[in-house]
Amino acid sequence: MTAPTPQPHHVFVTRPIADSALRRLAQSARVDLWDDEAPPPRRDLVARIRGCDAVLTMVSDRIDAALLRQAPRLSVVSNLAVGLDNIDLDAATRAGVAVGHTPGVLTDTTAELALALMLAAARRVVEADRFVRAGRWRMWTPHLMLGRDLSGATLGIVGFGAIGQAVARRAAAFGMRVIYAAHRSTRTLAKPSRQRPAGEAGAAPAAVAVPFARLLAEADFISLNAPLTPETRGMIGRDEFRAMKRGAILINTARGAIVDQAALVEALRSGRIGGAALDVTATEPIAPDDPLLEFPNVVITPHIGSASFRTRQRMAELAVDNILDVFAGRRPRHCANPKVKLAPPSDRRRA
Ligand code: DGY
Repeated sequence: MTAPTPQPHHVFVTRPIADSALRRLAQSARVDLWDDEAPPPRRDLVARIRGCDAVLTMVSDRIDAALLRQAPRLSVVSNLAVGLDNIDLDAATRAGVAVGHTPGVLTDTTAELALALMLAAARRVVEADRFVRAGRWRMWTPHLMLGRDLSGATLGIVGFGAIGQAVARRAAAFGMRVIYAAHRSTRTLAKPSRQRPAGEAGAAPAAVAVPFARLLAEADFISLNAPLTPETRGMIGRDEFRAMKRGAILINTARGAIVDQAALVEALRSGRIGGAALDVTATEPIAPDDPLLEFPNVVITPHIGSASFRTRQRMAELAVDNILDVFAGRRPRHCANPKVKLAPPSDRRRA
């Protein structure tokens, strides 16, 4: 009697990613690609994951307990992101599903966007560009498009992991004084992360830890660099805007839901804060009639923090590595639920 031929692993990839990474995955698995820039609707996601051993997801794919129940063969979810708020980690751990993500490789790129947004908001770059395109540039005048200096200003960083620290290093190079805090709910200070950003020495940034309330009161610019968790959801609300220094500018490259958006609109309308530069919004994409779009002193980009050619390539390779690790019987190299008990692949694949 001949032994049954092992079936190839089956992977669902929810969006086109770098070709080289896809090709590498296809050498070890049967790959089913959702070949569309728009995310698979929920019912397609459920149907396509059902017989899969692995799924490579994006931040906009919600992976929850109900979905995991429908995918008995699944052994790994690999998220093309450092953030994991789209995945129910506890449910995955209970289901014996490892969750991989892509920290480190996107640190510099995301920090660069935070600086780009800070400069854009401070020096009114987007507003000035619109002004020129509208044919309103008639002459040089001493008071045209006056903005704010970064040098000499205080930057308050909320969340001091790898990305927060990378922002701090860059801000210090611009001559900013940098302070940082964790968040109100814990009142503890984030420990500087041990992750070293790719391609950078990762020297300890010159930044001073302060209580959250002091950060709000002293910062001219506030950069949000914390993950979205139950503790950080809505942590920048009406009270926090009131506690901010008048004219402060808010930069968010983390997650939109960390900010209470109605409170942000109110703070902008009243002039309490001087502006905002947001790469993320509570609902993505933002609705075309969202009141935030009415403010000239608000800059909004479409969640492109890690969107450089090099970084998206690295993220795709890492997301594939995380899957191949599990196929080889190991936890993903960047595992978000290290307590997960992986079933031997043979057991799971009989499911
Ligand atoms: C992340 O990595 O969490 C980003 O938001 C997606 O690029």
